[in-house]
Amino acid sequence: MLKVNNLVVKRGPRVTLDDINLSLQAGETLAVVGESGAGKSTLIATILGLLKPASGEITWNGQPVREAHPALVMQEPRAAFNPVLSLRRSVMEPIVAQGTVLGIGCLERLCARLELPSEMLDRRPNQVSIGQAQRAGILRALIAAAPLVLFDEPLSALDAVTQKHTAQLISDLQSEEGFAALIVTHDIGYAVAHADQIMVLKDGRVEETTDAQTFALNPVSPYCRALRDAAISLGALEAVT
Ligand SMILES: Nc1ncnc2c1ncn2[C@@H]1O[C@H](COP(=O)(O)OP(=O)(O)OP(=O)(O)O)[C@@H](O)[C@H]1O
Ligand SMILES: [Mg+2]
Repeated sequence: MLKVNNLVVKRGPRVTLDDINLSLQAGETLAVVGESGAGKSTLIATILGLLKPASGEITWNGQPVREAHPALVMQEPRAAFNPVLSLRRSVMEPIVAQGTVLGIGCLERLCARLELPSEMLDRRPNQVSIGQAQRAGILRALIAAAPLVLFDEPLSALDAVTQKHTAQLISDLQSEEGFAALIVTHDIGYAVAHADQIMVLKDGRVEETTDAQTFALNPVSPYCRALRDAAISLGALEAVT
């Protein structure tokens, strides 16, 4: 289980995350939503150990999170890869580093499920579309079979049909593999459909953490109600009465 207790993060003199608490069980999805600059990517970077907290604790089953070899799907798909290496080299790098042996056809099967032709992997990041690079990022995270996967807007570069399909695939793989998923998203409809819990961040603080159903039906804070209502008026979420 991922546990974040009383986390405070400063970037320069500014407090970027203030008193964040969360827990996420194996097999569960936590969606983190909130406006641009709220601190969502900062939270991911701190959980991964890329930023040092000013105070607070982050653990995975009581151990430092790095022990779980967490996987990351980065927000900017092309920047996520080394520009001079083939996507295949980058996708395989965490597996090679861990000394994991992949079953025959494992990579091809996952490529097929992502609707990413596996020959794309022989190209460099600037030789594929942004949406293809984004799916290669998802492939890299999921093929490594990490118990904790952090997704930073994993569907942002995909068209609506591919988004829907990829969202379902992430859910299916999660049921099959049982990893814990923390997913940053701007898509409230996606969060309500696929997450167990939704955490709303605003200016570095937790506005509200609720189960997805409560968020859709009866968010407590005015900010969360406004977010929910905006999603309904945009057609991203069905109104439930
Ligand atoms: N390298 C940095 N140095 C200093 N401040 C930073 C740095 N990166 C981000 N920040 C600041 O930290 C705050 C949180 O940024 P963060 O990237 O976590 O937001 P976010 O919620 O992921 O936004 P978005 O939805 O736009 O990706 C912002 O005010 C941002 O300006
Ligand atoms: Mg971000």
